[in-house]
Amino acid sequence: MATEPVTAFLRPRVVNVDGVARRFETRAVLDDVSFELRAGEFVALLGRSGTGKSTLLRALAGLDVEIEGHIEVPACRSVVFQEPRLLPWARVLDTVVLGLRGDDARQRGRGVLSEVELNGHERDWPKTLSGGEAQRVSLARALVRQPDLLLLDEPFGALDALTRIKMHALLQTLCRRYRPAVVLVTHDVDEAILLADRVLILGDGRISLDVPVDVPSPRLRTNHAFARLRSQLLAQLGVDEAAEGLHESPVKEYVS
Ligand SMILES: Nc1ncnc2c1ncn2[C@@H]1O[C@H](COP(=O)(O)OP(=O)(O)O)[C@@H](O)[C@H]1O
Ligand SMILES: [Mg+2]
Repeated sequence: MATEPVTAFLRPRVVNVDGVARRFETRAVLDDVSFELRAGEFVALLGRSGTGKSTLLRALAGLDVEIEGHIEVPACRSVVFQEPRLLPWARVLDTVVLGLRGDDARQRGRGVLSEVELNGHERDWPKTLSGGEAQRVSLARALVRQPDLLLLDEPFGALDALTRIKMHALLQTLCRRYRPAVVLVTHDVDEAILLADRVLILGDGRISLDVPVDVPSPRLRTNHAFARLRSQLLAQLGVDEAAEGLHESPVKEYVS
């Protein structure tokens, strides 16, 4: 959604992952992972629990020195985790601008806080924030650095359904404004289809599927292309739709 998938290949490559492997003891969690990302491209990374999604994201973030294979990523990248990981001793604005250089750092911090709709919360302590607010601080901290690559590890996984819908809309708006390349790790197939230009599935230590999201906007779950892609992704993930009751979601429609 952040970009036009059709023209994405014309933009410069910002991520190149080639033959990446990661072993813990003797077990290869990642075996042979390869993919590329273009500037501004929004990719969702799906996979069952324990398939190595977070391991791959940590490798892209540069947090894992024991990775094997080739990884090329932009120098300026930010990570948002499922837990906001705020500092209990730092107020909201201080958290957002921590480590940021330049005389205008606090001004930029205030600007981004306003973009994530946290005007007036600059002096709040983390423990006074709701889950959604805390995650918006985390998003602001990531974006204030204007990253070329934004890495999101199940960032909405701990939020309630309605807050999650709001966060989806907010993330779309912010990605259109900042235009980072994005890797969103999620186990939520609908979230992947709603937000991404392209979906990768990780399975058995490799990218087992790499498909563009060719669903017209607004991406409604009732749309045929949406439903078709969902079935394809679920089948690849080895999920039986009927058995899992996946059509009985409490939230019938996403706002797009
Ligand atoms: N530091 C570690 N030491 C040993 N095993 C690990 C470590 N980190 C992850 N693993 C294992 O690697 C597998 C993939 O983990 P992870 O990347 O967190 O999966 P996902 O995010 O897809 O749920 C899991 O079986 C996990 O137990
Ligand atoms: Mg994980």
